[in-house]
Amino acid sequence: MDPDFLSSITRPEVYDFEGVSMIPCFTMNWENIQNFQARPDDILIATYPKAGTTWVSYILELLFFSKLGAERQKTMPIYMRVPFLEGIFPGLPTGVELADQLPTSPRLIKTHLPVQLVPKSFWEQNSRVVYVARNAKDNAVSYFHFDRMNKGQPDPIDWSTDLQKFMDGKKVFGPWYDHVCGYWEKKQTYSNIHYMFFEDMVEDTGREVEHLCSFLGLSTPIEERERITKGTHFDTMKLNNMTNYSTVPVMDFNVSPFMRKGKVGDWKNHFTVAQNERFDEHYKQRMKNTTLQFRTQI
Ligand code: PPS
Repeated sequence: MDPDFLSSITRPEVYDFEGVSMIPCFTMNWENIQNFQARPDDILIATYPKAGTTWVSYILELLFFSKLGAERQKTMPIYMRVPFLEGIFPGLPTGVELADQLPTSPRLIKTHLPVQLVPKSFWEQNSRVVYVARNAKDNAVSYFHFDRMNKGQPDPIDWSTDLQKFMDGKKVFGPWYDHVCGYWEKKQTYSNIHYMFFEDMVEDTGREVEHLCSFLGLSTPIEERERITKGTHFDTMKLNNMTNYSTVPVMDFNVSPFMRKGKVGDWKNHFTVAQNERFDEHYKQRMKNTTLQFRTQI
C-alpha cells in the first residue's frame, strides 16, 4: 500500500453511541441500519471484532456458494460476498446497500453490533444467527494488532494502554464482556443462534463445520466438508487475496498482517505477569453472573 496515503490518514476517536464506544464509519448510516429489512433465510454472522469473523464467513460462503464456480472465489473479496452491515468505507457502497443488493440466497451478513443494537427485523424474521466468541485474552491481543495496522481504527497507542481500553470497554463496539454475554443470554430465548468458539474451531475445524451444517440443515457430503475445512485453513486463507484483506487500502501490512497468527494462547507472548493477574481479577468480576466459559489454551 502507498505509504504516503497511509500516513495521511487521520485516525478516528471513539465516542459514546447508545452506550457503546463507536466511530463514525459504523454509526453514520444508523437510520438505514436500524430499518434494515432482514429475511427469514438470512444468516447473520455476529462477532466481537477479531473473534473469527472472516474464518466463519468463508466457511459459510463455501458451504453455500462454492458451487457457483471458481470465478467468484478468485475475484470477489470476502467483504463483498459477506457485507459488513454497519460499515461505511470510502469507495464502497454502504454495508446496507451491499446486503440489499446481494443476488445470492441465503444472504450472509456480517455484524459486530452488540446484541441490543442488532436491527430488530432479524429477530422478527427469525433469521439464523451464527455467533463466534473468542477468549478475552487472545481477542484483546488480536484487536491490538489490528488497530495498529488498520489506520481506519483509533490509535491503540501501546499494548498496555490498549489492554486497559479493552478492560474499560472503550474499544470500538464496546465491552467484550457484554458482547459475548449478550448473545449468550439471547440464545436462552431465541433458539436460532448457533454459538461457536474460536478455540473449538482451532481444535477441530472439521467438527465445527459439521455442527454448522446441522444447525443450517445442510447435508453437505463429508468429502465436501473436508475440502472446505482444508480450504479455510489459516495458511490457505493467509495466501488467498480474497480472504486476507490485502485489497483494503487503509490496512498497513508492513505493521501487521490481517491473518496474523490464528492461534489460541498468543496472549502469553503479550501479557506480563502483573497484567495477567490484574486482568484475571477484573475478568472474574465482569463475568461473575454468566455460565459462559472460555478456554485460554487448548
Ligand atoms: S474482523 O476484522 O473483526 O473481521 O477480524 P476476524 O476475522 O474476526 O478475526 C481475525 C482473527 O482471526 C484469525 N483467523 C484465523 N485463525 C485461524 N484459522 C483461520 N482460518 C483464520 N482466519 C482468520 C486471524 O488471524 C485473526 O487472529 P490473530 O490472532 O490476530 O491472528
